Amino acid sequence: MTKLTVMSDLHIDLNGFGDFETETLIQTLKSQDTAHLHLAGDISNHHQEISLPFLEKMAEHFKVTYNFGNHDMLDLKESEIKAQDFQIIPFENKTLLAFHGWYDYSFYPEKSDLDNLNFKNRFWFDRRLNRGLSDKELTLQTAQQLDKTLARIDNDVIVSMHFVPHSHFTMTHETFRPFNAFLGSQIFHDIFQKHGVNDVVFGHAHRSFGQVDLNGIRYHSRPLGYVREWDLTIDYVQKHPELNPTGTWNLSKRYNLVKKLSHFQNYKKENLEREFLNSMSIFDL
Ligand SMILES: [Fe+2]
Repeated sequence: MTKLTVMSDLHIDLNGFGDFETETLIQTLKSQDTAHLHLAGDISNHHQEISLPFLEKMAEHFKVTYNFGNHDMLDLKESEIKAQDFQIIPFENKTLLAFHGWYDYSFYPEKSDLDNLNFKNRFWFDRRLNRGLSDKELTLQTAQQLDKTLARIDNDVIVSMHFVPHSHFTMTHETFRPFNAFLGSQIFHDIFQKHGVNDVVFGHAHRSFGQVDLNGIRYHSRPLGYVREWDLTIDYVQKHPELNPTGTWNLSKRYNLVKKLSHFQNYKKENLEREFLNSMSIFDL
């Protein structure tokens, strides 16, 4: 049967994708009978120079579509971002609706909008983007377009977006909670509910939730994320406590302890297929 595979947050530049990684990804997708690959954002920080050649390579094997995450937007004009937003991709009995999404600070109401904005401008990647509207205006505009677009789709719909559509998927650790402001908005969930959407795939917060059903909507979130966050990296350091004498749980520090070891490099190669497989949301079409 024809399969749609959705993945997010490949970050092929930061994760150092070379021929081995790309070829392993292609073989893993083929092993799952993927006919159509959709990427739900954060392919790389440089869309033209890095993402497009990669997407062309993938397109030699699969039908390929994508929506953007915040990282993809770094080099792009607003008109280029808009041109890729709200794509309707019909299949025989289902429709894929792909849009980027955005955030309106509502996942961190403890701070005023101004304080959230100031925090973003100091610490968050998106301070490097200029989208022309305020974050709240952008989110509202996106939500209105989502509402109108879903009203036009009769088929069983699978939605792909980058940002986080429900507070269930926000961060709970005290250190990270202020960053929830920039994750997404539940305004999207409310619209999915209104239109009886069955499946939504998203990424952005690099934590894998698998499938979670909320108010009749099946959410799928299995972002690949950064190599320091991968299961194989965490497992490797767990299996070799002698390499982590301080027992740190800081993921950057843990990765730095092992990244240059040839034994780890081999382990990574051996387990890459499993890591990719765990980052795929697969749908029968
Ligand atoms: Fe990401």
